[in-house]
Amino acid sequence: MEKKSLIEQAIAMTERSYAPYSHFHVGAALLGKDGKVYTGCNVENAAYGPSNCAERTAVFKAVSEGCREFEAIAIAGGLEDSNGKPQIKDFCPPCGVCRQVLAEFCNKDFKILLTDGSGQIKEFTLGELLPESFSL
Ligand code: THU
Repeated sequence: MEKKSLIEQAIAMTERSYAPYSHFHVGAALLGKDGKVYTGCNVENAAYGPSNCAERTAVFKAVSEGCREFEAIAIAGGLEDSNGKPQIKDFCPPCGVCRQVLAEFCNKDFKILLTDGSGQIKEFTLGELLPESFSL
């Protein structure tokens, strides 16, 4: 799977985001070791707390479909414009909660790809973004 294709799928998923409270739309595309791509978007809630990030939506979709091993995730996010359309203008790194959820299933060398919408890609490993992660 090309990095560019995974990034494009993450950007496309920002259109599915349900973000009427923050107006910040996030999309994720998670590549499983089964070769399938599991996509996700953020889904907000009026009570705020029950909101779910795009990355966790993708992980939970994959695990519930039987995939628990992953190669990489692409993430895109940005505020909507006056027409409600997401604008990807900067890199959108995963929040701490999503890093911990990824650490449950992914190795330190799992790849995290970020886009600023201009064709630039920033690439990290999970080990770089969450060193000394918690495990039991
Ligand atoms: N959000 C994500 O989907 N992923 C992250 O890693 C950070 C934040 C969402 C949550 C909320 O719906 C919106 O972005 C603003 O915080």
